Parts: sequence; structure tokens; C-alpha cells
Amino acid sequence: MPETVEIFEMGPRDGLQNEKRQIPASEKIALVDLLSSAGFRRIEVTSFVSPKWVPQLADAAEVMAGITRAPGVSYGVLTPNMKGYDGAKAARASEVAVFASASEGFSKANLNATISESLERFVPVTEAARRDGLPVRGYISVVTDCPFDGPTPPASVACVAAALRDMGCYEISLGDTIGQGRPETVDAMLAAVLDEIPAERLAGHYHDTAGRALQNIDASLARGLRVFDAAVGGLGGCPYAPGAKGNVATEKVALHLAGQGYATGLDMDVIGKAAAMARSMRGEKDV
Ligand code: HMG
Ligand code: MG
Repeated sequence: MPETVEIFEMGPRDGLQNEKRQIPASEKIALVDLLSSAGFRRIEVTSFVSPKWVPQLADAAEVMAGITRAPGVSYGVLTPNMKGYDGAKAARASEVAVFASASEGFSKANLNATISESLERFVPVTEAARRDGLPVRGYISVVTDCPFDGPTPPASVACVAAALRDMGCYEISLGDTIGQGRPETVDAMLAAVLDEIPAERLAGHYHDTAGRALQNIDASLARGLRVFDAAVGGLGGCPYAPGAKGNVATEKVALHLAGQGYATGLDMDVIGKAAAMARSMRGEKDV
């Protein structure tokens, strides 16, 4: 039996959050429904964040209400605070995610808060989720490089990761938000984080801005990580991270992993259709 590596599909959330054209909820629902038949265990659907900050995802409740949930698939959403958590719960999200930063500059830009203020806000979210039986994932952004503060010290990432673990996050996803990480910097960052958290509870979330995401995935596989975030069609970017375009494409990661003998359990025909759909939503001609 080949070893399994899981791809957590980010397309509907990270892939679309930065799009200029307001994409109708019906198109987002169609994308999620198609992705539901691709073999993913987890799909990130949307974010319950301030619509002033991320107008593209202002229809989070409508999208969550419109999707057809497939058995065995977890439909996750981002929740930066209790207001977001309440929205997520009302929308029957399967899991929620809190998102912190390893640098102060990015924390301010993305959450209008210092790192420690943001972590304080996550405490009631994780407590409520525990009471409600909802799993909480934690993200850390700018794990190697920050567009505002420069290179990120690995110890800063380990410190935030420990805080998220202590709050009860079941998995921590390490974000190379602007895609500037290199295998060496990713490896140094992982070495520090692994002192706090085992590889089974970590995921790699690498944007492909500089075309190095696959190399960074390989560096992470060597450190024992077996979950990677990706977006069909390679869409995406963070609106508060200048230059952060392009999540690594799901189809590219799946083929790369297959080439190394890992199983992802994904139906590549469906992935191809979803990638074409995602690209057309962004107005790109299919290739
Ligand atoms: P703030 O302006 O400091 O918030 O933003 P506030 O508490 O002062 O509230 C301002 C207004 O927003 C109020 O409305 C609130 O009700 C409303 P008003 O009274 O002015 O009409 N509000 C909300 N509305 C809906 N849902 C909510 C919510 N919270 C407040 N949850 C805040 C602070 C955290 C809200 C804001 O900064 C925010 O929403 N940030 C989210 C930014 C974001 O979504 N970024 C992209 C996702 S992270 C990412 O992409 C990185 C990742 O992919 C990993 C990686 O690549 O690194 C995960
Ligand atoms: Mg991201």
C-alpha cells in the first residue's frame, strides 16, 4: 500500500478571497459541490470575517447554506473572532480555523491586532468550539518571510505554534504567505516548530509565487509532514499580503506526490474539471 499524503483543498476560500470581480454565490457553490466529489477529506469553503476587510467572502452564510454536503467531507471556514465563530456555527461549518501571524507587521495588516491580541481573541473561539464539539485548525502566516518585517525567525513561528497547540488546535498549518520560502528556510523553520509539535499535527501551506512550493513541500515531506494545503487551478492570494498571489495548484501537488509514490485519493478527472472551473471564475481562458 502506498503511503498517503492528504491535500486540504483551499480553492473556494484562499483561492477566491482576493478576486476583484464579485463572484456570485451560485458559482462558489458549484465549485464546492464539484470539489466534494474529488475525494478530499477537507475543503475550506469560506471565511466568516469582516466584509469590509474581505468583500469577496461577504456571502459566506449563503455559500454554506447552498452547498450539498458529501458524507465524510469536512467543510471548514475561517473564524478570526467570536462574531465569525457565531456565523460559522449558525452555518453548520464542520470545523473552524483561527489564523495568526509569526510577524507583528503581518498581524497588524491582516487582523488589525498584535500577535498577542490576536491569540487572546482566539481563546474564546477555541473554548466555544470545544464545547460545541467543532475541531479547530490553526494557521500561522509568514512562516519564513514577511512582506513588512523581512525574514521571520523560526523561533517566532515555534512560539505561535505552541500557543495555538495549547489552545487546542488539532493541526497547525504553516503558511508561506508570500511564497518566498526556500527549502533551506522552510527546513530551518520546521526544525524549530518540530521541537514543539509533532509532524502528524502540522501541515504545509505554501504559496507558489516564486515557483518553489513543490521544493518546499519536498523539504517538508523529508521532515515528516503528510498534509499540504493547495487550491485547484493555483488560484489565490491574501488580500493583506502584497505579492501573495497563487496558492500552489492542487493538480500540481497531486501529480508531484504521485510521482514520488504517495497516494492522495484524489480523482484527477474531477480535479481537472474543478481547476478549469476555478480558472474560468477568475476570467482566465482554459489552458
Ligand atoms: P477590525 O476592523 O479591527 O474589527 O477588524 P472590529 O472588531 O473593530 O470590527 C469592525 C467591523 O467589522 C464591525 O462592523 C464588526 O461588527 C465587523 P461595523 O460595526 O463597523 O459595521 N466584524 C465582523 N463582521 C463579520 N464577521 C466577523 C467580524 N468581525 C468584526 N468575523 C477583523 C478585525 C479580524 C474583523 C478583520 O481584521 C478581519 O476580518 N480580518 C480578516 C482578514 C482575512 O480574512 N485575511 C485573509 C485570510 S488569512 C490568509 O489568507 C492566510 C492563510 O491563507 C495562511 C497563509 O497563506 O499565510 C490562512
Ligand atoms: Mg494562504
